Amino acid sequence: MDGALIIRLSGFTTDDVCAGEGALSQPLLIATSNAGKLRELRSLLVNLPLVLLGLDDFPNIESVEETGSTFAENAALKASRYARQAKVLTLADDSGLVVDALSGRPGVHSARYVRADATYPERIALLLAELEKTRDCDRAARFVCSMAVAADAGQVVFATEKSCEGRIEKAARGLGGFGYDPIFVPDGFDQTFAELTAETKNRISHRALALAAVREFLVSLTGLRSDG
Ligand code: IMP
Repeated sequence: MDGALIIRLSGFTTDDVCAGEGALSQPLLIATSNAGKLRELRSLLVNLPLVLLGLDDFPNIESVEETGSTFAENAALKASRYARQAKVLTLADDSGLVVDALSGRPGVHSARYVRADATYPERIALLLAELEKTRDCDRAARFVCSMAVAADAGQVVFATEKSCEGRIEKAARGLGGFGYDPIFVPDGFDQTFAELTAETKNRISHRALALAAVREFLVSLTGLRSDG
């Protein structure tokens, strides 16, 4: 990013923000309608001088379609378009499961794999059946998370993409987590994401790693150190 860029945060500039010892609290819109994700992101952003807002705080905001062909494109376009509508600093993400033997599927279509209203047991059953059909013994896979932050005029001022490497199990195991967690075993573990504790998942997950990078960016932006 251009170091000379002055980022307008709802009427303040980075100069204003960095001038005081973090006395200013800035609004940050977390642009997700997924309540679980919002909760997870809120908990990972505590202790920053930010007023965390959700899409519910902007009742007239128009939802932005994920029309990009990559996680990064979708995160950037959502951050930019929501920021322009809400006129506040905005964080958006796009994530999904990438399976090597399925040429990267379900990938950016993870949330809509099979069909938009399918259940996760249905999506998992199809994915396992497809994997069996390939007769490929390579079960390597990764969860990927792209995040982008856009300033209130819509320009993307920070972007990052992180992944969590692992493999796909032959059958679903575990009751925790969400989505494809019951069939994903992260490298270095024997349990699936759905069997590991939330604390462990939140330490190693694609989303936690991406958010750690975003958090560093926000800390540098607000001129504050924080121990969260
Ligand atoms: P998004 O909300 O458009 O980013 O869609 C993400 C989709 O990817 C979710 O609906 C899940 O299907 C999948 N996904 C992303 N992260 C995870 C995870 O941590 N566990 C399980 N599934 C995930």
